[in-house]
Amino acid sequence: MIIALDGPAAAGKGTLARRLAAAFNLAHLDTGSLYRAVGRRVIREGHDPADAKYSIAVASDLLPVDIADPELRTEQTARASSIVAAIPGVRANLLEWQRNFARHPPAGARGAILDGRDIGTVVCPDADVKLFLTASLAARAERRFEELRAKGGDPIRHAVLDEMASRDRRDSERDTAPLKPALDAFVLDTSDLDADAVFAAVVAHVEYRTGARRA
Ligand code: CDP
Repeated sequence: MIIALDGPAAAGKGTLARRLAAAFNLAHLDTGSLYRAVGRRVIREGHDPADAKYSIAVASDLLPVDIADPELRTEQTARASSIVAAIPGVRANLLEWQRNFARHPPAGARGAILDGRDIGTVVCPDADVKLFLTASLAARAERRFEELRAKGGDPIRHAVLDEMASRDRRDSERDTAPLKPALDAFVLDTSDLDADAVFAAVVAHVEYRTGARRA
């Protein structure tokens, strides 16, 4: 079973993906971490994420240590990741790896769930279930603000919102694999739903679509 889960930043994809993976015994791949790892390493090595040649070289030589970088979840990395993600050669280098994970999940798993921006449209267009999680910009920015605060940071509310708005724009307006729901995706607006309500709605949808039962 392959589940494609797409949507903008802080729509709740990460939490939902982890819970679905446990419920249906699926291996989970957070594809955003690949773009973050490329953006982070480009910055760490003193280059501009908009430098296509350099970013493509990094994407073609991504190492496990890059994905384990402690700075992966910072806002600076988020910004860099959406800049490198607009470069077609970067995306091309990460595509086969993602498809391979979906086709050959680690032993013992019944399938895979991949979360990102283009899983249902480009990476796994034949996924058994396609989900698109969204929420208002205000709700998502508030979640990210609280997340950064919980991690001990001192974020500025309007800066978090502005940064998210420009990342939304970059992700939705790029020519290659822009953020958008697949035509056959189940679209859920989570602005007024908590994680349990989202999970319950999606489990019902997955069971209905696939005939599978959660563990
Ligand atoms: O965690 P958050 O939702 O803030 O972002 P993420 O999922 O870690 O993704 C970081 C960035 O990577 C996004 O803003 C996109 O630009 C890019 N991305 C992408 O282009 N395609 C994907 N399948 C996943 C992420």
